[in-house]
Amino acid sequence: MRLLVTGHLGMLGRDVVALAAAQGRQVAGMDAADPAEPIDIADLAAVRAAMQRLRPDAVIHCAAYTRVDDAEREYDLAYRVNAAGSWVVATACAETGVPICGISTDYVFDGESARPYGEWDATNPLSAYGATKLAGENAIRQANPRHWVVRTAWLYGLQGRCFPATMLNAAAQGKPLRVVADQYGCPTFTQDLAETLLRIVDGAPYGTYHATNSGSTSWYRFAGRILAEGGSPTRVQPIATAQWPTPARRPRRSELAPCALRAAGLPALRPWEEAIRDYVRQRRDMEGGAR
Ligand SMILES: NC(=O)c1ccc[n+]([C@@H]2O[C@H](COP(=O)([O-])OP(=O)(O)OC[C@H]3O[C@@H](n4cnc5c(N)ncnc54)[C@H](OP(=O)(O)O)[C@@H]3O)[C@@H](O)[C@H]2O)c1
Repeated sequence: MRLLVTGHLGMLGRDVVALAAAQGRQVAGMDAADPAEPIDIADLAAVRAAMQRLRPDAVIHCAAYTRVDDAEREYDLAYRVNAAGSWVVATACAETGVPICGISTDYVFDGESARPYGEWDATNPLSAYGATKLAGENAIRQANPRHWVVRTAWLYGLQGRCFPATMLNAAAQGKPLRVVADQYGCPTFTQDLAETLLRIVDGAPYGTYHATNSGSTSWYRFAGRILAEGGSPTRVQPIATAQWPTPARRPRRSELAPCALRAAGLPALRPWEEAIRDYVRQRRDMEGGAR
């Protein structure tokens, strides 16, 4: 299978490309940050030309505007990338008969549900970022019937800025850590999500999927686990969201239930505790190798 990955220089995109290549697939990338050939996913002519040239069998669409707080004051830019850009990629795919797998977020929900969210529950984003991602989901659904929309959450990976790296770096510098204890969600390792995305494009029924590592936790408990796995003695102080005001509102509880994955007979992702252990180990190995 020939794959095209948008946002292939981002945190998730890099792991999708690495795993797809390791599985023997041909992979091409499309990213605005690509110095060799920057392509803006909101430019229909440029994306069409790339699709004609690369002729992929499927597209995994990871490119996005992901700065959640900045999106509050840069709504138009976030909308251009997340909504218009998703429509462009989905349209160019539809024109060439190619299915698209678009990545979305738990931030499409308001977090007020007492239960984990299923794929078909009502959305109600609290933030500009969440609203633009929801618009992108809908654009993909409307532009291309051959689509998978995969919502994930609290992503971290070895090749990007992420919460676990921030915690480990801050602890190493002896900084005091205060972390919100009243927001709950599903931390997800990009390597595990990449595996599931490739399973999905290998022939899962089209539709909306939730894909996160199994189980859920608070940011505070997640931080504690990260530091414990890293062997750090640093203590984390729990705080309330109100003590850590941010421009963007975030859902209080945004656990995602993988109902569609289960129904389609695809394996659930491993528990988040195992995934973070693996992340910390690999990070340590990378740092050891770099010395
Ligand atoms: N990170 C999370 O916690 C999280 C949680 C849930 C869902 N998601 C979703 O998962 C996906 C991957 O996230 P990620 O964290 O891997 O994102 P990321 O690291 O920010 O990577 C996104 C990539 O897309 C590129 N890009 C931005 N605008 C573009 C444009 N107009 N045309 C082409 N490329 C463009 C970015 O380039 P620049 O760096 O130059 O902007 C970057 O290389 C996104 O759809 C995101 O919304 C993320």
